[in-house]
Amino acid sequence: MTSLNIPSEFSTTLQAAGLSFEVPTGLFLGGAWRSGSAGETISVIDAATGKPFADVAAATEDDAREAMDKAVEVQADWAESTPRERSELLRRLFDLVHEHADQLAALQSLELGRALPDSKGEVTYAAEYLRWFSERAAAISGEYRVAPAGNGRIVTTHRPVGPVLAITPWNFPLAMVTRKLAPALAAGCTVIAKPAQLTPLTMLYFAELGRIAGIPDGVFQVLPTSSARRVSALLDDDRLRKLTFTGSTEVGQALAATAAQKTIRTSLELGGNAPFVVLEHADVDKAVEQAIAAKMRGAGQVCVAANRFIVHESLAEEFEAGLVQKMSEFVMGPGTDPKTTMGPLVSQEQRDGVRDMVAKAVEEGAHVALGGNEALDKLGETHPDLDPNGFWYPATVLTGVTPQFEIANQEIFGPVAAVQRVSSDEEALKVANDTVFGLAGYVMGEDMKKTLRFAERMEAGMVGVNRGALSDASAPFGGVKQSGLGREGGFEGIEEYLDTVYLALDV
Ligand code: SIN
Repeated sequence: MTSLNIPSEFSTTLQAAGLSFEVPTGLFLGGAWRSGSAGETISVIDAATGKPFADVAAATEDDAREAMDKAVEVQADWAESTPRERSELLRRLFDLVHEHADQLAALQSLELGRALPDSKGEVTYAAEYLRWFSERAAAISGEYRVAPAGNGRIVTTHRPVGPVLAITPWNFPLAMVTRKLAPALAAGCTVIAKPAQLTPLTMLYFAELGRIAGIPDGVFQVLPTSSARRVSALLDDDRLRKLTFTGSTEVGQALAATAAQKTIRTSLELGGNAPFVVLEHADVDKAVEQAIAAKMRGAGQVCVAANRFIVHESLAEEFEAGLVQKMSEFVMGPGTDPKTTMGPLVSQEQRDGVRDMVAKAVEEGAHVALGGNEALDKLGETHPDLDPNGFWYPATVLTGVTPQFEIANQEIFGPVAAVQRVSSDEEALKVANDTVFGLAGYVMGEDMKKTLRFAERMEAGMVGVNRGALSDASAPFGGVKQSGLGREGGFEGIEEYLDTVYLALDV
């Protein structure tokens, strides 16, 4: 395996999932590892124990400005590199991520708490963005056409937008950066990335792989920070040309409002409230299996996770029983333990939020068919091996939920399946679309004509038809309504990092 080469003052050695490996802990600025200019650090917490296990340098606004100076200095040269060079670099990075897949997965399971199978899945998924955009880098195209009046020629070509600020969430510490970095690099943009404060280590490790792959100094820089504002301050810098953000709707809307002051191009992937609809003619076993795929990746801490199960009343009892059975099979434990299939939630705040949502749902009349807050209170007896300071929440099924319940109108981001019953397709569609969000949706049905017609009417940027897993680097990821702007991945993803230029020819 290619070894990392990080100065010892900016690295630490971690043990996780039977591996011992070195991890960078500095800022990655101008192609070098260094501390933050104020000497501040942030602690990274093990979600399974509630204890800090690493300290990472925290960037200040001055560091962010310095990163911007560097990005601007190298932007023109990077834009001039050949598409083939950029393509091959991304391909080398894809290979390196695979070479280091076990370390990256173990690291994610440590800093995020997520079960190893999910972390391994994310590493593969994240790497696919590098491969996909390495293939797209050399395929950026333009157009030559005759002006309608015949008195000239219209040529369109593309150039990179310019320096990009990428702000990523904690729930996919690798895939969210590759999903932004790969198209940006393919297009010829420089990138300053801010990882989530809760999970900065994976992106730092990835930055070192980028250095090894040969990303030129200053083309990709990583700035962990204790206050997002220190890095988002760059939004008032005229030299920044693009913001790409994945995270909460509230923060995304605030960033977009600031970015609008300088007409900075913006892509946003925000919150969701995904309906998972089981139509009258669905195959219940298949629906349950896909419901688990749609709900339980990363213990439900996923923007496209099924948030509302909307089930035809004729199948509801069987579906609920199947869901309870499958959800009860999850093995809760530290993410780095190979036996674990569901880790803790990422933070105490996240866990408490889920607990409060369930409490409110019960107060409003939901029935706890599995798990819930009573099970949480008894974890000391039922799961004596778990550290009581970890951020645990048991797999939970709530039935008897209605569209008016708070839980039906909030992003749960936890292992809680809330089931509502409906009596017709029309009612299901009305309930499914009755939200300001529109990221993902799912529909299950065996009558393909009815199922596809239903899918077409769902107000979501992505719809899983008889599938609970829809994320794919080669497909456009993004939402409608308040779930975001723009698309990542797919053929569309690179367009977010390219400006179209029109040349008028006097021919
Ligand atoms: C997200 O939760 O934001 C991303 C989920 C995915 O890419 O599948």
